[in-house]
Amino acid sequence: MSQRLENRQIVIGVSGGIAAYKAVEVLRLLKRAGAQVRVIMTENATQFVGPVTFEALSGNRVCTGLFKDTEKDASIRHIEWAQEADLVLVAPATANIIAKYALGLADDALSTLLLAAAAPVVICPAMNSQMYEHPAVQRNIGQLRQDGRIIVEPGAGELACGTVGPGRLADPAEIFDRICGALTEKDYAGVRVLVTAGPTREAVDPVRFLSNPSSGKMGYAIAQAAEHRGAHVTLVSGPVNLSPPVGVRTVPVICAQEMAHAVFAEFDSADLVIKTAAVADFRPKDPAAHKIKKGDPNEEQNLLLERTVDILKTLGDRKKEQFLVGFAAETRDLERYARDKLSAKNLDMIAANIVGRADAGFGADTNRISLFYRDGEKEELPLMEKSDAAHLILDRVLDRVLDRIPDRIPDRIPDSLKSGTSIGQ
Ligand code: CTP
Repeated sequence: MSQRLENRQIVIGVSGGIAAYKAVEVLRLLKRAGAQVRVIMTENATQFVGPVTFEALSGNRVCTGLFKDTEKDASIRHIEWAQEADLVLVAPATANIIAKYALGLADDALSTLLLAAAAPVVICPAMNSQMYEHPAVQRNIGQLRQDGRIIVEPGAGELACGTVGPGRLADPAEIFDRICGALTEKDYAGVRVLVTAGPTREAVDPVRFLSNPSSGKMGYAIAQAAEHRGAHVTLVSGPVNLSPPVGVRTVPVICAQEMAHAVFAEFDSADLVIKTAAVADFRPKDPAAHKIKKGDPNEEQNLLLERTVDILKTLGDRKKEQFLVGFAAETRDLERYARDKLSAKNLDMIAANIVGRADAGFGADTNRISLFYRDGEKEELPLMEKSDAAHLILDRVLDRVLDRIPDRIPDRIPDSLKSGTSIGQ
């Protein structure tokens, strides 16, 4: 459960498009994250998905029209909902509701609620490609952007009407992510964050490599969390099965040497570096140019390995103003190894965890991390979602940058930040 969405009041406006069923998935994601969700549907939307589906999943009565509800005070319910909302989502948003909202028309419950809402509004257009590309629709979307509304661009692909092009409702996971971003305080605004994630692969021959089971989830969660908090984020990522986080500049790499090049190129322009990547310490000294054949059944093969560059140690040696966070995955003696790495690599903080358990470390969605600081302090975090651990690590970094080493705060961090205001939840 994400702490950021817990008990936040979200209204989902569903307008009449074939993608209305996908709003059900968004609703499920929001409920799973602990949000309170209310659904308001246009009359046309009810032709695509029955209100009872949304009612059952949200646990709340669905609003389907201004005068349909017989309950007392129902005719002003949408105004109340608008006032109580922390965020309003419209998914799918048809050309019609987009036009009404851009113009300020209020002739049904959803368009009226939109005008009455002071909370952030996230609009997810979905329609036929020609309609989406029509100058009138583009003009209206542009107007909504100008008015400060968040637009989640539709994807491209084959649409229900058979045409191929842009107009398909964005993925529920992306919509969920943008909602999280919209509800997150921008306490990292202007801060430049460099994150590394995933494993590296060191070639043995053209079809084989040495690697490790790092999934990249922790690093991707940190990159996404920092982006949600307003940072400029660059993510240098080894090969993983994760979608690049929205709004993050992702630099894909394969081996330790490539990761080192990419990180060194970015280092000077970073304020904060978080190295979650599980970098190979050794690589085959002479990778074969062609596939190695197994040959004689009794013959043994030796693989000669050489050391790769220790990227983080190099950064520690070179660092000036940057705040450096390392990660340590250990199978035993966590504290001793973590503290050794903290000092050997000249880090400001290290996040360490024991690997080899089902609920923490490689591949898991949760992690149990201990934080060790330069000044000798230690903090043990309970088992938590990697996305929550990511925010907590960012909270702690901000805490330290603000309170302990204020001279580290680069000039480009806004004054509001330096004054030590809220550092996240
Ligand atoms: N790291 C790095 N470059 C390497 C190896 C590690 O930048 N060639 C970084 C990792 O990204 C991590 C930290 O150093 O932030 C610790 O990595 P880890 O593999 O736990 O430790 P090592 O220094 O490799 O030591 P050992 O393998 O002996 O535990």
